[in-house]
Amino acid sequence: MDSLSFDTSSKKSKILYTSLALVGIICVVGTIALTSSNSSSPGLQQFQLEVEEFNHFLARHNKLYSTAEEYARRFKVFRDNSAFIRIHNSQAGSWVLKANQFADVSFAEFKSLYLGTKAQAHYTKRVAEENNVVIPDAIDWREAGAVTKVKNQGICGGCWAFSTTGAVEGAWFLANHTLVSLSEQELIDCSRSYGNEGCNGGLMDYGFEFVIQNGLTTEKHYKYTGRDGICNQTKVANVSATISGYVDVTPNNSTALLAALTHGPVSVGVQADQAAWQFYGGGVIDKSCGTNLDHGVLVVGFNRTTVPAYYIVKNSWGPSWGEDGYIRIAIKEGKGLCGIQMMPSYPIVNK
Ligand SMILES: *[C@@H]1O[C@H](CO)[C@@H](O)[C@H](O)[C@H]1NC(C)=O
Ligand SMILES: *[C@@H]1O[C@H](CO)[C@@H](O)[C@H](O)[C@H]1NC(C)=O
Ligand SMILES: *[C@@H]1O[C@H](CO)[C@@H](O)[C@H](O)[C@H]1NC(C)=O
Ligand SMILES: *[C@@H]1O[C@H](CO)[C@@H](O)[C@H](O)[C@H]1NC(C)=O
Ligand SMILES: *[C@@H]1O[C@H](CO)[C@@H](O)[C@H](O)[C@H]1NC(C)=O
Ligand SMILES: *[C@@H]1O[C@H](CO)[C@@H](O)[C@H](O)[C@H]1NC(C)=O
Repeated sequence: MDSLSFDTSSKKSKILYTSLALVGIICVVGTIALTSSNSSSPGLQQFQLEVEEFNHFLARHNKLYSTAEEYARRFKVFRDNSAFIRIHNSQAGSWVLKANQFADVSFAEFKSLYLGTKAQAHYTKRVAEENNVVIPDAIDWREAGAVTKVKNQGICGGCWAFSTTGAVEGAWFLANHTLVSLSEQELIDCSRSYGNEGCNGGLMDYGFEFVIQNGLTTEKHYKYTGRDGICNQTKVANVSATISGYVDVTPNNSTALLAALTHGPVSVGVQADQAAWQFYGGGVIDKSCGTNLDHGVLVVGFNRTTVPAYYIVKNSWGPSWGEDGYIRIAIKEGKGLCGIQMMPSYPIVNK
């Protein structure tokens, strides 16, 4: 279809091309050209509006595709996702969706590219009894300065490494050290013998086991590449933070997770392969995700003075996703919404 060709001489397109070198190209997975026989096509005017909206989206997120076929394919995904988002937002609810950086990614691709917690794996449980803990109305560990800025895992199922570093950063800071951003790449490259699988997934507890044995160096020293790499032992030897153990919080119990959060940020597994996560744009999600854990994130606080009460959760999909990179999740009983109470754990730093 002709109307899909884009004018490379326009100013907007030039901006897109010049930014190519910086951001790379979303990987090509087959080609489905958009055809005019698409029965769900709206009128031509609407169609042109959507093309314009799509081009704005590409400029906003510095995206560029290598071929016209890829452009057409991504445009189709974008239109489907935009329709989904419009329908969700037209129904009154406690959270909104938005066409964020994942708006040109299908649900299936999203699942395979951006998640990565091997939640089925076995590990020794060290369950903590959280008795006699006074739980306050609200905690936000960001306000205490215990949380680093939101990071971006890119196209690598290394979420578990970001959840691990976030928890260690918080525990290290709260043991009266300085807040320092720690290396996910070290965990991705070097913790395979602890059960992790780099960009194919891992578990936060395996990450903690690695840190107990090796400590962790800084983000700055062992930089994130977003790819599986060979472990650099010289960098590993430059230790910036250590932990002495970790606690597996009593699962399936909101009281236990809230009590654990009085100690500092807590790593959790969630199911995030749903639209509620992919396009989350703000608010408190209170339904629409399951409990098949596939993503590791970090709970940095909660608020029980609101209805619904919610957890404050740091994600690793960059600061433009959600609420400046965060998501709020309603506190529910049992496994918790998105399974957030099924696998919480946090590290301990010896005083
Ligand atoms: C949850 O944990 C709390 C505190 O650890 C305990 O008092 C309570 O009985 C537990 N609830 C359930 C349903 O197991
Ligand atoms: C909890 O929610 C209340 C009401 O919205 C707000 O005033 C308060 O600042 C929140 N506390 C935290 C720690 O987020
Ligand atoms: C950190 O330092 C403060 C002030 O010196 C002290 O009150 C607190 O107990 C210390 N915390 C830890 C975990 O050592
Ligand atoms: C260790 O890492 C720090 C940054 O975390 C860096 O400044 C220092 O140069 C490194 N030391 C060595 C010997 O590489
Ligand atoms: C390993 O890290 C050290 C210290 O940063 C660096 O000098 C060396 O080039 C790295 N080795 C490889 C193979 O990248
Ligand atoms: C949490 O609850 C689910 C189902 O309700 C159950 O399959 C799972 O084993 C529970 N986890 C633990 C550790 O009890």
